[in-house]
Formats: sequence, C-alpha cells, structure tokens
Amino acid sequence: MGASRASAVTASRQTGAMDPQAVHPPAGEADPQRFRQVLGHFATGVTVITGMHEGEPVGFACQAFTALSLDPPLVLFCPGKTSGTWPRIARIGQLGVNVLTAGQRDLARKFGVSAPDKFDGVRWTPAANGAPILADVLAWASCAVETVHEAGDHFIVIARVTELGECVAGDPLLFYRGRFTLSAATEADSPPEVVDTLLAWPRFADWM
Ligand SMILES: Cc1cc2nc3c(=O)[nH]c(=O)nc-3n(C[C@H](O)[C@H](O)[C@H](O)COP(=O)(O)O)c2cc1C
Repeated sequence: MGASRASAVTASRQTGAMDPQAVHPPAGEADPQRFRQVLGHFATGVTVITGMHEGEPVGFACQAFTALSLDPPLVLFCPGKTSGTWPRIARIGQLGVNVLTAGQRDLARKFGVSAPDKFDGVRWTPAANGAPILADVLAWASCAVETVHEAGDHFIVIARVTELGECVAGDPLLFYRGRFTLSAATEADSPPEVVDTLLAWPRFADWM
C-alpha cells in the first residue's frame, strides 16, 4: 500500500463513526459448538462433489465450495479428513461439482452421510471427464484436481474447471445455521437491481 493510501486509511479510521468507548467483549472461546453456531450464520449453497471409483459413481455433499479464480478458472472446496469418498475421487483426480436446487434436499441428505449406496435411484450422466452429473441440478462443472492442502481437520482442494454445464432456471438449495432453508423469493419480472449495481461498478468483473 502506498504512503498516501495508507495515510488516507488512517485518516478515515480516525474520522469514522467508531465509538472509542464501545469495546467488544472478549470473543467467546472457539469451542466446537460455538464455532458452529457463529459460523453457521454464513449462508451457502450446497453442492455434491462426484467422481468415479473403480467404475462406480461416488459423491458427497459439500457446502464448503466457492469459485476461486477466473483466469485460470479455478474452484475450491473442503472435504473433511474423515470422508471416505474424497480419497476415492482424489485417486482419479477428476470430479464433478453439482449445484443443488431448492427441490433437491433429499439428494443433499443422501449424499451428506457415509453410505455404500448413495447413487441408488439417482439419475446421472457422465461429463466429458467421466464424473457423474446429477439430473436436474441448478448448474454443474467438471474439474481436474490441481492442488490439495491440509488445513486442520479438512483438506483445501483447488481444482481447474474443464467443462461448464448448462444452468437451469430455479432456486438454489441454501444451508444456513445448520439447516436447509429457502432462498429469498424473487419475482420473475422484478427489476435486476443487483445486476445493474454490479455492472455500474467499474471493476465489476473483479469480484472473485
Ligand atoms: C448440507 C451438507 C453440507 C456438507 N458440507 C460438507 C463440506 O463442506 N465438507 C465435508 O467434508 N463434508 C460436508 N458434509 C458432510 C459430508 O457430505 C459427509 O461427511 C460425507 O457424505 C460422508 O460420506 P463419505 O464418508 O462417503 O465421504 C456436508 C453434509 C451436508 C448434508
């Protein structure tokens, strides 16, 4: 940061609306229950990460997913170290990301537990890299694993997007405070305020 920018930030901090008397109480200890409670307030969508293992489709529900980079096109997700499915997908290094719709809670539950037969009764087709793409998902991408980092009780997986699927109209499945929840209702003909705001922002393409 340049000197003038640094001094501008300092000045804005000094003249901002911070109340010097209002000091946050010490943060509660990060015990697992409080960790879940506080960080569960960050709402996410729900994906199912899929792959092929010895000719059989495998997958697990994953909310810890985000787009990471536009150039090159990368995504990031975090499988737990206890996942039995992740090492199977990692072995091949090719995977599918399936973004679930609000109507696919049952799929999220099915793929959200360890079970030998998660694909029983589930319709899917293979992407070009062989990864299973579940029927009627909101959106999908197929990817190749680039790097895997260890982080606490999870891995951070960075994967390169190799194919982008069609998007269908519909609401996303949301996960909030440990529960599935409905997306905010949007009228089909409501004005695209958010999009307008983003497009008016000169660096709108830099959001990720
Ligand atoms: C809505 C939802 C979101 C989940 N998100 C994650 C996640 O981000 N990372 C993860 O490792 N497990 C997540 N899980 C749990 C895994 O899906 C679960 O541990 C996995 O399916 C266990 O099966 P496996 O042993 O076959 O991997 C989530 C489960 C649900 C229901």
